[in-house]
Amino acid sequence: MTWAGYTKRSRTPIYIVLAIPIYFSGPSSIIKQVIDRFQCVWLSGKGKRKGKTAALIAAGGDPVPIFQSTVSIAKAFAKTIGAEWAGELKISATDGMNDIPEHIVTEARGFASKILSKHSGA
Ligand SMILES: Cc1cc2nc3c(=O)[nH]c(=O)nc-3n(C[C@H](O)[C@H](O)[C@H](O)COP(=O)(O)O)c2cc1C
Repeated sequence: MTWAGYTKRSRTPIYIVLAIPIYFSGPSSIIKQVIDRFQCVWLSGKGKRKGKTAALIAAGGDPVPIFQSTVSIAKAFAKTIGAEWAGELKISATDGMNDIPEHIVTEARGFASKILSKHSGA
């Protein structure tokens, strides 16, 4: 499946949720490499099809992670692919967690509903 082929054939809304662990106050290098591969979409101008939504879930081990640069990069990614920005969910203190606390599950559900409402007419 190529980007161009997918966008030509499908009218289904596309939702892209970047799930990024914070490493040294930025995105992990692996996800950054994936994001960098999308520069060709910017250069080709093929990111213009409407109906795309992008969002970010960022998780940091520290009680007060620095999310700022990761949010900026994720927004730049959304702009590059022509996606509407649906917002970010920031999760802190993951290094102290054994299980996912209930309040984070609730927050994540609300965030998912918010993303999906972008194209459902809700
Ligand atoms: C190389 C490395 C750097 C990290 N740097 C940070 C950091 O700057 N701030 C922070 O809050 N957490 C930092 N962490 C903790 C991770 O954000 C946290 O453990 C996260 O849940 C890891 O997700 P993963 O298991 O998907 O890699 C770092 C972890 C690693 C491995």
